[in-house]
Amino acid sequence: MITTKTRIGNFEFNNCIMNAAGVYCYDKEELEKVLNSEAGTFVTKTATLNVREGNPTPRYKDTELGSINSMGLPNLGFDYYLDYLLELQDKYPNRTFIFSLVGLSKEETHTLLKKVQNSDFKGLVELNLSCPNVPGKPQIAYDFDTTETILKEVFEYFNKPLGLKLPPYFDLVHFDQAAEIFNKFPIVFINCINSIGNGLVIEDEKVVIKPKNGFGGIGGEYVKPTALANVHAFYKRIRKDINIIGTGGVLTGRDVFEHILCGASMVQIGTTLHKEGPEVFSRITNELKEIMKEKGYSSIEEFRGKLKYMD
Ligand code: DHB
Repeated sequence: MITTKTRIGNFEFNNCIMNAAGVYCYDKEELEKVLNSEAGTFVTKTATLNVREGNPTPRYKDTELGSINSMGLPNLGFDYYLDYLLELQDKYPNRTFIFSLVGLSKEETHTLLKKVQNSDFKGLVELNLSCPNVPGKPQIAYDFDTTETILKEVFEYFNKPLGLKLPPYFDLVHFDQAAEIFNKFPIVFINCINSIGNGLVIEDEKVVIKPKNGFGGIGGEYVKPTALANVHAFYKRIRKDINIIGTGGVLTGRDVFEHILCGASMVQIGTTLHKEGPEVFSRITNELKEIMKEKGYSSIEEFRGKLKYMD
């Protein structure tokens, strides 16, 4: 029997494939479709304290090789997602879901995490340090001093399982510096990568999304080599008790297989889920199982992190 089940921290999941934050996770209706699919779990749209409409439309565009977006954190607000998650954890006591969060300021981030700490929420929290699309707000994770300060402050009061959503890094020294910071804190997972920030797509001499004169986060096929490099660079540098969620450039079961080879314990699908809908989870799971069968693997732990190098 071939199984694609996995673990993040102390939680078990029946499948290692799920949605990436931002896709099929805005409201209960979308989340329910992921819940009732083959996905192992879901992550909610990154929530801020208050409801946000986000940037003007069009703000997302599928392209031949991926997608570009500048959504601007449209979300239904912290309470909406927390209430739904609390409802689901009563209904499905054996399942674990991921709650994605970030404040528009450091203070708001602390407000959100203190609310989680004081709630009955028993799942995983993903702190999004990598939103590239709010005009005037730089990505937190590209500022290592701010990242370390926030984590230091958070772990003074927060003791539930927490992970970090990271942007792609592009320099080996940055992998070293970032990993050194993450290794100081009791985080349960890191998620690599968010979109490659501030790309530009042009059609007929014109940008394809309205916010920020067309600049937006790039996802899909374009980003797979960057995603794999980030997963593997951190796999080699972070404590072994920190799990990695691999996100970026997953179109097929082979892409999931490669993320796991690089060290991912869970793999998220964004652009391809947007293009194909939640049936994508059964297609890609079947493709992954077919590869595992050909190679004689019965569980993902048999090849996770075992990327081969040249002599
Ligand atoms: C948005 C985009 C992101 O990549 C992210 O991590 C959070 C929010 C957005 O534009 O809504």
